[in-house]
Amino acid sequence: MTRRQAGAAMMAAAALAATPRAAIAEASEARPLPPPSKEGGMPLMQALNLRRSTRDYSDRPLAPQILSDLLWAAFGINRPSGDRTAPYWRHVIVIDVYAAMADGVWLYDPKAHALAPHSSDDIRAQTGLQDFVAKAPLNLVYVAHGERMADISPADRRLYASADSGFIGQNVYLFCASAGLGTVFRGAVDYPKLARALKLPEQQFVTFAQTVGYPRA
Ligand SMILES: Cc1cc2nc3c(=O)[nH]c(=O)nc-3n(C[C@H](O)[C@H](O)[C@H](O)COP(=O)(O)O)c2cc1C
Repeated sequence: MTRRQAGAAMMAAAALAATPRAAIAEASEARPLPPPSKEGGMPLMQALNLRRSTRDYSDRPLAPQILSDLLWAAFGINRPSGDRTAPYWRHVIVIDVYAAMADGVWLYDPKAHALAPHSSDDIRAQTGLQDFVAKAPLNLVYVAHGERMADISPADRRLYASADSGFIGQNVYLFCASAGLGTVFRGAVDYPKLARALKLPEQQFVTFAQTVGYPRA
């Protein structure tokens, strides 16, 4: 190591020492999820019979196992090939599922079945134009990678990304019906504002959001 490199290393170590521990953990550590329970749940026809949109939520948090099962049901990996619980355009994964919660924004990583930290901000209120979004424990945000659809028109990008999001959304609806949770798939979103809150690169865009929580009794 040269003297210059040693100096830089010492300065980096000093900066790290000055950073509060919690902030370091928050910025860098993935949040593991318990393995999803792939057995059980409600019979499909009963879940379909209960599927509906909910717009009145309690602030009861979601237990880690519920969050795990929900995200796996939404767009988790269900085959050794890496394919997913929802179908997707041209066998190209274009949708990321973000989870906006009180403790920040997390990106669902289906391969690790974990939540990768994205931001420590509570942006729930910015995920939609309806009041309940700020209070519900979870707002999923479906984000499309436009750059992975470069050979089709912008209109087609939005069409196929929306279709992919709709399938994920219906998985979430059925899981919620089965688990006694409420949910609503949402297009009433201030898209530029949400893209800013998520700090999305230019090519990525939000398709829809979806609130999840326990219905207020
Ligand atoms: C593409 C799409 C966008 C939607 N956007 C919203 C929305 O922004 N806010 C909302 O409260 N519901 C929204 N919904 C939910 C519908 O209003 C709801 O599914 C419809 O009224 C039927 O009610 P149900 O889901 O209870 O059967 C949306 C649904 C879809 C499919």
